[in-house]
Amino acid sequence: MNDQIVKINEEQRNIYEGVDLKNSRMLLKRYFQLLDLSKFSGHITFLDVGAGGGYFTKAVYDYLKQQGFEVTAYALDPMEYPSWNRFQKEIIFCQESVEHVDTYLKNIKFDLIFCNKVFHHFVTNTYTGTLEMMQVCMRKLSKKLSKNGKLCILDIFYDGLLIDSWPSWMIYQCTTQKNEILIKLFRMLGAQSAGSGVCFQSENMWNRLICQSHLSIDVLEKGPVFPMKRMKQAVFLSHRPIDDCILICSRLKKCK
Ligand SMILES: C[S@@+](CC[C@H](N)C(=O)[O-])C[C@H]1O[C@@H](n2cnc3c(N)ncnc32)[C@H](O)[C@@H]1O
Repeated sequence: MNDQIVKINEEQRNIYEGVDLKNSRMLLKRYFQLLDLSKFSGHITFLDVGAGGGYFTKAVYDYLKQQGFEVTAYALDPMEYPSWNRFQKEIIFCQESVEHVDTYLKNIKFDLIFCNKVFHHFVTNTYTGTLEMMQVCMRKLSKKLSKNGKLCILDIFYDGLLIDSWPSWMIYQCTTQKNEILIKLFRMLGAQSAGSGVCFQSENMWNRLICQSHLSIDVLEKGPVFPMKRMKQAVFLSHRPIDDCILICSRLKKCK
């Protein structure tokens, strides 16, 4: 596959930089109500994919330390964030894209891998290429899990009203537009491009992606359903999107 993930732009990076420790602690609380840490003892190595400013990574680091674990924390993101400087002592930052995770973190296995609001950014120049890229990334991350490792995902599901994958396709097409006027129009309708386009998936698409990556779903928690603007719902022929869905996955036992 020749396609590469398109980087978000600086403007969008500055928006994500605003996600602070308080928000991160709320998410952390939700995860650790769902995650069972009793299978881990002594040392935990974890990876935060698309870590943004690193606030969530730091919150996880602090939490695991409080629970008495030795911790090695990795955060990766193709964009560099100014706040990284504040957390250099605790976190190993890698300014890299997830698609190369198997090469630059070659000999490391992770007990926990977090992908918070990041999979929908693994966008390439075509819709089919994007779905393939998500599959490639999911497989690579799956292979980076330790024996009892957990892959923890937070994302938004968009299920089609008539065709399951329609909102996914439609949002991809709208947000990858290069025409400035169309970009503004779609932004007004609620489709943010992040400078590179975004690609959300339906619940069925997530299930397929996970299943084809030799993973099983331990937990699927659907977050609060916020009412979607009628206009947006009509344009994307979508059910209301389900915000903040959490998926916790393990590697299937028979896989190497
Ligand atoms: C919506 S922000 C989420 C940040 C953080 N995880 C959070 O929940 O606040 C998405 C992040 O994914 C990063 N990202 C985009 N493409 C990526 C890629 N190919 N590999 C890793 N991270 C990527 C972006 O740079 C951005 O920092």
